[in-house]
Amino acid sequence: MKIAVLGGTGLIGSQVVQLLREHGHDAVPLSPSNGVDVITGEGLDQAFKGVDVVVNLTNSPTFDEASIDWFRTSMTNMVEAAGREGVGHAVILSIVGVDQVPELDYYQAKVLQEEVLKGSGLPYSIVRAGQFFEFMKSVLSWTVDGDTVHLPATPVQPLASAEISREVAQVAAGRPLNGIVNIAGPEVFPLDELGRIALAAQGDTRTVVTDPAAGMFGAVKGDVLTAPADAVIAKQTFREFLAAQSESAARK
Ligand SMILES: NC(=O)c1ccc[n+]([C@@H]2O[C@H](COP(=O)([O-])OP(=O)(O)OC[C@H]3O[C@@H](n4cnc5c(N)ncnc54)[C@H](OP(=O)(O)O)[C@@H]3O)[C@@H](O)[C@H]2O)c1
Repeated sequence: MKIAVLGGTGLIGSQVVQLLREHGHDAVPLSPSNGVDVITGEGLDQAFKGVDVVVNLTNSPTFDEASIDWFRTSMTNMVEAAGREGVGHAVILSIVGVDQVPELDYYQAKVLQEEVLKGSGLPYSIVRAGQFFEFMKSVLSWTVDGDTVHLPATPVQPLASAEISREVAQVAAGRPLNGIVNIAGPEVFPLDELGRIALAAQGDTRTVVTDPAAGMFGAVKGDVLTAPADAVIAKQTFREFLAAQSESAARK
């Protein structure tokens, strides 16, 4: 199948392109660097010609209020172009529990992205994933105060981007779900504990202070970011992921 991957140069997108190619598909990465812009719409119609499936793995440059317009505009441009070109399946990557945190602009933006897709009339699939293990680096950089990092004890169920990419590639190559599949990690961690494990693995001596109001995840109530009962559960644990990362760094 010919599969267009918007954001095919990003963390998830580049892995999805590679996996689809390994399975014999003609996967085409699309991003501003090759003339396709989901915000201006530039290059979309041309890029969707003869395409069977479109996978949208783009991301907004910010997590604030501006992300709401970003996802509304980008998704509207995508579904309109896909409709004009007769694309048979559209796939997006969203977040486990995304509709349970209306206080967060970025989550509102992702809910809007899902709604634009559902309302588009295109056959569709939504993959909702837990937080990427790789995302911990950014989370730890947001709420630094000297030698401490402030994090709430929000329960999360993170997983490796590689396992999310596998699920997205499999869904893209399959029949449209016209619904949602969730994928999350094998373990639930309070976010502050996850931060402590990540810092220790890097030999980082900063301490994590448990702070219920800190950062983006301070707005999350209860365990809404953990997987629903029917979710796909990934295999690799956070400690296995960290060990694999330090082995590969040592080899370089
Ligand atoms: N972080 C998490 O824990 C988490 C959890 C669940 C779901 N997600 C979702 O996963 C998705 C992918 O995230 P990611 O971390 O893989 O993203 P990423 O690495 O930041 O990659 C973003 C991609 O979007 C492309 N892009 C940016 N602006 C664009 C534009 N105007 N037009 C076309 N392409 C554009 C980028 O192209 P360039 O390379 O040219 O910049 C890049 O290929 C996001 O939608 C996010 O909401 C994230």
